[in-house]
Amino acid sequence: MQQALINLAYLTSVILLIVGLKRLSSPAIARSGNFIAAMGMGLAILVTLIVPLSDGNNNYLLILIGLGIGSAIGLILSKRVQMTAMPELVSLFNGLGGACAVTISLLELFQYQEIFSGGSTGAVHMGKHFTTLLTIFIGAIAFTGSILAYLKLAGKVSDKHPAFLAYLNIVFLLGILGMIGYRVYAPDASFMIPWMVLSLSLLYGLTFVQPIGSADMPVVISLLNAFTGIAAALAGIVYGNQVMFIGGILVGSSGTILTVLMCQAMNRSLFNVIIGGFGGSSKKGDDDDEKVIVEATLNDVAILCRYADRVVMVPGYGMAVAQAQKTCKELDNLLSGFGVDVKYAVHPVAGRMPGHMNVLLAEADVPYPSLLDMDDANALMPETQVCLIIGANDVVNPGALEDPSSPIYGMPILEVFNSSQVIVLKRSMNFGYSGIENPLFFKGNTKMLFGDAKDSLQHLISEIRELG
Ligand code: TAP
Repeated sequence: MQQALINLAYLTSVILLIVGLKRLSSPAIARSGNFIAAMGMGLAILVTLIVPLSDGNNNYLLILIGLGIGSAIGLILSKRVQMTAMPELVSLFNGLGGACAVTISLLELFQYQEIFSGGSTGAVHMGKHFTTLLTIFIGAIAFTGSILAYLKLAGKVSDKHPAFLAYLNIVFLLGILGMIGYRVYAPDASFMIPWMVLSLSLLYGLTFVQPIGSADMPVVISLLNAFTGIAAALAGIVYGNQVMFIGGILVGSSGTILTVLMCQAMNRSLFNVIIGGFGGSSKKGDDDDEKVIVEATLNDVAILCRYADRVVMVPGYGMAVAQAQKTCKELDNLLSGFGVDVKYAVHPVAGRMPGHMNVLLAEADVPYPSLLDMDDANALMPETQVCLIIGANDVVNPGALEDPSSPIYGMPILEVFNSSQVIVLKRSMNFGYSGIENPLFFKGNTKMLFGDAKDSLQHLISEIRELG
């Protein structure tokens, strides 16, 4: 009876996780989705805490101290984190998930050791032994890989990729898989082998992530997220806990789908991402003398927007930095009042995390139908009088279409140059995340409006109001 109740609670928790995940598919209901999934996780933790009560074998003081410390750190980090630093936080959480899976597996491995030294090596134990070693391998990569991804994103580790790492990675991979295979074949072999699997996998996490270019970090974080999910699912098998298994599968599969979608959005294969070669270089053109930038005045831009039939805003990372989303909506309201059709063109990798722009624009109450995805936006560009580029750079870089030597060549972009007039709001001629020059800024129909995006938009709103 008690077991049936526990299973029922786990089932409820899994259903809550799935419903929560499903609701994340639209910004309008994503907040409730997050809440529902958190309830599911809370229920799973609660039931897992109650289970040991039945056999009287518990260590509640230690568990509660751990829970208290973990919850306090999680709460403080989540409250303090800036929206722009969210990928770093996700990466840290990923890493800790991998570390949990490794810890559980190590504990299980100690138990197997007793079983194997007692001579029992049945097929079930062999299978569990293999799963445990695999969990250590994948969880350890997710742990150190995510910590390094966090340090790279936060700019604390530089973006160097020595060529020898590719060969070293092959050696590490073969070595680890070989040791796992041998330990499963000879389970009473030295316990040094699992320790070596752990140490090499921790190292491999670092050497795997280090060569990957900084602009590919979002894909890598998503991939490591999938690894963490797979490690958790495997730990669920090892530990015989269904909710951990299903929760891990959900994280693993959604992480994998996201990785594939992000690769598609950048038109890059996963293999290409992993071997690196995108971003990191501060490429500047050779023919700087021929490049002329034209600065716009506020009055120019105000007139252009006020009398346009359609204005398309293209938000990017700079909009998030300037926290200009509400000012964008204010400008949208003002222009819409004059009969201008205002739309937002959102590139799938604009900003620093998947859905970054959608979240910010939803926060500013921009209605979902006003957001255009890349294909719809590109189709509308030739009929657009003004494109306002608000802190975007790489996602509107025509080099991706025109310059085969560009590191981002082949990445689909928002083709804003097809509109009649492009106005770029940014603070300087600095590069975007991929560290390369943007030929859009030198095109005949582009003008630059320098300054913080929020300040520029506020001044623009005042200027348009004065026009009446
Ligand atoms: P970026 O190419 O990074 O360009 C952002 C621009 O914003 C910069 O050129 C910067 O120029 C400007 N900026 C910064 N602060 C500003 C402020 N306060 N006011 C006005 N402008 C400001 O951004 P993007 O076009 O959104 O492209 C995203 C890039 O990040 C892609 O390369 C993508 O691969 C990568 N990435 C994406 C993700 C995901 S999943 N979305 C995650 C990590 C990385 P100034 O300094 O001159 O102002």
